[in-house]
Amino acid sequence: MSSQCTDKSRKHGESLYNLSGQIGGDADLSPRGQQYAKLLPDLVAGSAGDLPLTVWTSTLKRTAQTARYLPYEKLSWKALDELDSGVCDGLTYADIEQQYPQDFKARDEDKYNYRYLGGESYRDVVIRLEPIIMELERSENILIVTHQAVLRCIYAYFMGSDQKQSPWMEVPLHCLIKLTPRAYGTQEERMFADVPAVSTWREKGSKAVHADSNSVQPSPMISAEVKPA
Ligand code: F6P
Repeated sequence: MSSQCTDKSRKHGESLYNLSGQIGGDADLSPRGQQYAKLLPDLVAGSAGDLPLTVWTSTLKRTAQTARYLPYEKLSWKALDELDSGVCDGLTYADIEQQYPQDFKARDEDKYNYRYLGGESYRDVVIRLEPIIMELERSENILIVTHQAVLRCIYAYFMGSDQKQSPWMEVPLHCLIKLTPRAYGTQEERMFADVPAVSTWREKGSKAVHADSNSVQPSPMISAEVKPA
């Protein structure tokens, strides 16, 4: 990866669909998601100082609403939209298990390659992210506000981790992940805003009700580590 690109990736604030456990869609932020959006400028400034950031969002409302108070230039990319869940768009995991039991099982068995009927797989998302990755490689100080599946793919690329494992990675809401290139790898820092949110993570085999997460940290910075590229 470029030695100049500092990429801050964050998931959008909690949305109304996150609260109801529905996937996909184009929902507005929940009241807690809106609260998070208001705190973002300070959280970002605390990490980036006076750096002139550029904010990239998807074309979906929840990312634009999350970025709305950030005082930087903004660009929205269709390629940053959430993985298209096709016929399952708007359903909960429990609905999918009930209405498409074979698909639910097949996705758990090979989540990276499974393509939703009329939608996308993680593999498809990795391919459509190629222009974004190329642009990130030659840019610096980019703040990306995007979605769970997309963030997993971008993260795996820059951290050099296995793309096939990335669909199971936990990406908390209301958390800023800062990736900085270093001589021997990529440094990662995670900063949490003190605003609770549901967890949208689902473990293999589970129907995952989106309950409140316990991972909100009182301290804004919970980890900083360097992984070899
Ligand atoms: O639940 C939030 C969400 O962004 C959904 O819109 C999306 O389908 C899902 O996460 C992707 O995560 P997973 O691949 O684990 O289902």
